Amino acid sequence: MENRNKVELHKISKVFLNGDSCEAAIEEVSLSVKENEFLVLLGPGECGKSVLLNIVAGLMEATSGEVYINGELCGGIHPEVGMVFQELGVLPWLTVRDNVALPEKFRGMSKKDRYAHGQEFIDLVGLHGFEKYYPHQLSGGMKQRVGIARAYASDSDILLMDEPFGKLDAQTRYSMQDEILKIWNQNKKTVIFVTNNIEEAVYLGDRIILFTAAPMSVRRIYDLKDLPRPRNYTDEKFLQIRGEINRHMDLVIQ
Ligand SMILES: Nc1ncnc2c1ncn2[C@@H]1O[C@H](COP(=O)(O)OP(=O)(O)OP(=O)(O)O)[C@@H](O)[C@H]1O
Ligand SMILES: [Mg+2]
Repeated sequence: MENRNKVELHKISKVFLNGDSCEAAIEEVSLSVKENEFLVLLGPGECGKSVLLNIVAGLMEATSGEVYINGELCGGIHPEVGMVFQELGVLPWLTVRDNVALPEKFRGMSKKDRYAHGQEFIDLVGLHGFEKYYPHQLSGGMKQRVGIARAYASDSDILLMDEPFGKLDAQTRYSMQDEILKIWNQNKKTVIFVTNNIEEAVYLGDRIILFTAAPMSVRRIYDLKDLPRPRNYTDEKFLQIRGEINRHMDLVIQ
């Protein structure tokens, strides 16, 4: 089943009402994501990436268009979809292990079982020893890892990540990129990863979808499955693809 479409968006449009006027945020975006694919959505700031991801997550309604998950029309929050948010990904009043175990708590799993289940993912993101820490005791990168561990620990096969490394310093960002690829390699899921950073997109993606600025629409699709992993920022081929996307990205920023 490696090749079936896990997620499909069909002509998604979103219009916001602003007082008397309408603002088109997304215009007829269609795309599909294969099972276990690492898909990157790349676009300039405020082009509508978070709105689109929220629609896929079922947290926001599209004005028109459909979302299909596992080939079935999806009308809201889907149990197979987990999300790592751009901001406020962790709850400050909960410890690392309680944050990670939160989805299992909602599902009614006992404390003992959900801590045991969550531990595997806390270890996976390198937070062993920090289980009883609160978010304010952690660095920005560690907090993001808590969000990733929670999304991974939940039963979701599909992981939506909204610029999860956007607020991190460059060095932490690079190590988090390696971290997320390591986790994805060990435990494959279908990933939709949003970024406005071309280099990050080329480093991570099996495929990149480049969007135009508002109203957001698909500009180009880059298939990078043949670009070997682990990738290197200074490889000739890497720089060539990066340069090509850069030229097209320049065109979409007004
Ligand atoms: N709930 C809302 N009501 C009205 N307008 C909204 C709402 N949410 C988003 N928008 C508008 O939609 C546009 C796209 O916003 P969005 O947050 O999706 O951008 P983005 O691509 O995620 O940007 P960034 O890279 O800065 O995170 C913006 O112009 C924003 O003002
Ligand atoms: Mg956003």
